[in-house]
Amino acid sequence: MAEIKTIAVMGGGQMGSGIAQLAAVHGFDAWLLDTDYNALSRATKSISYSIQRLVSKGQLSQAVSKDALGRLRYTLNLEELSSADVVIEAIVESEEVKKKLFLELDKIAKSSAILASNTSSISITRLASATSRPKQVIGMHFMNPPPIMKLVEIVRGADTSDETFNATKALAERFGKTVICSRDYAGFVVNRILMPMINEAFFTLYTGVATKEDIDVGMKLGTNHPMGPLELADFIGLDVCLSIMKVLHAGLGDNKYAPCPLLVQYVDAGRLGRKRGIGVYDYQ
Ligand code: CAA
Ligand code: NAD
Repeated sequence: MAEIKTIAVMGGGQMGSGIAQLAAVHGFDAWLLDTDYNALSRATKSISYSIQRLVSKGQLSQAVSKDALGRLRYTLNLEELSSADVVIEAIVESEEVKKKLFLELDKIAKSSAILASNTSSISITRLASATSRPKQVIGMHFMNPPPIMKLVEIVRGADTSDETFNATKALAERFGKTVICSRDYAGFVVNRILMPMINEAFFTLYTGVATKEDIDVGMKLGTNHPMGPLELADFIGLDVCLSIMKVLHAGLGDNKYAPCPLLVQYVDAGRLGRKRGIGVYDYQ
């Protein structure tokens, strides 16, 4: 595997912007691509804000922060990713949309490039099947917010090579992350365990067992979680939570993974969480 110098991140939402920031802070040339100009404009602001927070906490020097901001480039032009040694996909959690993008990535990216997906739940084997290079396709699942959370979950598809796995693991470690490995089953490790808990919190609210505040305080103070499950769902995005529950339900075939009707209704109403200013809680 050639040395990794340039990383392209597809999708400038909350995850993609955090991943591009990590890449730039750790010395890589980083491209952030999106199809939506407004998303890139929001990403520029959130990356500057996040880097500034790290500088003010003394976790990043002024010099590194300046270098990182200089190494980051933003574009709407997919062709720019032809210079990347690794492409990390972080677009919407839809198998259909991701497969379409992987088909495109395969055509544009250099033949040696690794195509990684930050998917929360979708089969890496199926995403890889949209490309002519399944050996170089892998799951590289960061946690939200990527600059802060210490874990990357790596998922090998049916054909992922050892070379791709080793290079991806080394990259995650260069980002300062601890790596866990998961086999390619719906939701992998973290979301297979986390999302049913969040879904159960919605059922607890839906069936009137307790208020949203009491559910969250119960889990924060009762189990020492930094956020309650409903607050965390708003932080992740209710659309993302619902998409993951649907993948778990379809992929694991057990009714215990059926999404709570209240979660479905919030998403139908556009209450997607913090990113929309309203979810379970109102942030406006
Ligand atoms: N950039 C830079 N710094 C950030 C940041 C960001 N984006 N977000 C938070 N921080 C830093 C702050 O500077 C602060 O640093 P210190 O501890 O040194 O003071 C620290 O994080 C805490 O920040 P705040 O006081 O503002 O907020 P908080 O105490 O509520 O912490 C949090 C924020 C780190 C997000 C914390 O609430 C937390 O850990 N929540 C749970 C997050 C979690 O579970 N993530 C995983 C979700 S599941 C997933 O990601 C997988 C999936 O596929 C859905
Ligand atoms: P988001 O909604 O914040 O951002 C998605 C971005 O992708 C948007 O800016 C959108 O314009 C862009 N996009 C959509 N289609 C595109 C395309 N074809 N090409 C380029 N850009 C496109 O979503 P997010 O929360 O950042 O999630 C992104 C991915 O990361 C999903 O697969 C999600 O499951 C995964 N993930 C999310 C979290 C989380 O907590 N939100 C955590 C880990 C992993």
